[in-house]
Amino acid sequence: MRIDNKSEIQYFKLKMEDGQAFINFLKKKFKNTQIINQKYKLLHENEYILFPFVKNQVLIDKVVALVDKEFNFELISKEGIINENYKYRTLQEALKGKLPEKYFDMIPKAYDIVGSIAIIEFDKFNYINNKLINEYKQKIAKAVSDVNKNIKTVYEKKSQIKGKYRLRDLAVLFGDDKSKTIHKENDCFFKLDVKNTYFSPRLVFERRRIASSEIKENELIIDMFAGVGTFSIQIAKNNNVKIYAFDINPNAYEYLKKNVELNTSLKGEISPNNMDVKDLLKPKNQLGHLLKNKADRIIMNLPEDSIKFIDVACSLMKESEGTLHFYQFSEKPNPIEKTLENLEKELSSFNWEIKSMINSKIVKHYSPKAELVVIDSKIKALKKERT
Ligand SMILES: C[S@@+](CC[C@H](N)C(=O)[O-])C[C@H]1O[C@@H](n2cnc3c(N)ncnc32)[C@H](O)[C@@H]1O
Repeated sequence: MRIDNKSEIQYFKLKMEDGQAFINFLKKKFKNTQIINQKYKLLHENEYILFPFVKNQVLIDKVVALVDKEFNFELISKEGIINENYKYRTLQEALKGKLPEKYFDMIPKAYDIVGSIAIIEFDKFNYINNKLINEYKQKIAKAVSDVNKNIKTVYEKKSQIKGKYRLRDLAVLFGDDKSKTIHKENDCFFKLDVKNTYFSPRLVFERRRIASSEIKENELIIDMFAGVGTFSIQIAKNNNVKIYAFDINPNAYEYLKKNVELNTSLKGEISPNNMDVKDLLKPKNQLGHLLKNKADRIIMNLPEDSIKFIDVACSLMKESEGTLHFYQFSEKPNPIEKTLENLEKELSSFNWEIKSMINSKIVKHYSPKAELVVIDSKIKALKKERT
């Protein structure tokens, strides 16, 4: 018997007292093959129990052939009752019967999860010529929450990251328009607002790499573009260091302060500052004077513009030697070489140079044309010529 009605599924109906023996039998004969359809509830009718079966007719026929000799049962079809606790594994699974299958290939393959919020980007899907497209997007957003039970809000990316605060426009697709959340990363917690602070969960491994790199006791570290404190807090978690963390965005600064308080067991100390790091170069800037050529390590995570702040890095880094983590978006081909060339050129214009390379790599894919590159190096000031 073939059942075409999508909401109807097939149940094996047998006496309650045979239920456990039936399950044991399936386990023995089919090992890890999924036979019971976890998406639907088991049903009870008088002295009978009804097991929902997966929608796979070949498998059902196989089970019937084997079970026939062992149990008294009836194969019935009826409307399945969804098990609210069922966790869908894929968007496609969650969307079955809710979205025309011809669009399944266009469903975004990935989305970002930030605390209780998911952020999804529609690419090919935006080009579908169908007046129901917004309804479909909402269904996809609901499916994201079905696959990830802790997701309360799903936003659609409406722009690229832009502006000096590095933010993007978002539009709510599912749940309440609540953009504040707490994200856990590498055993640290980050309060943030996805609408008015920068945060990318895609840098999780990069932040772990930097935080677990060789950092000496009592280093003085400058996190030039700190955001809500992602690098600073992860470094301070395990290292007895002093970090000056800067961000120009007042909202990022407020969250940075909150996050320093939230992560109670930091070994290092963090001093949050809400300012444009260029101001550190101003003759009357006291912090600029205090930090002049004192830094052992500087993190420059503003990939579109880091190069414009090399003067600040040279002003703050120890002249004898310091570690620089320099991030830049670079076009293909040879993005690493281009970044290095760019950095060397800019350093030399301030009479600095790369003393030794520690590491260089592509951190992540940025766009069809460009990659996010990091150069970790020891830099030093060139000796000033006497005149
Ligand atoms: C790409 S985000 C990086 C944030 C953080 N490092 C992270 O990984 O989450 C860059 C941050 O630099 C800040 N920013 C941009 N220009 C700045 C400037 N001139 N001085 C200080 N902060 C700046 C932005 O507000 C933004 O929060």
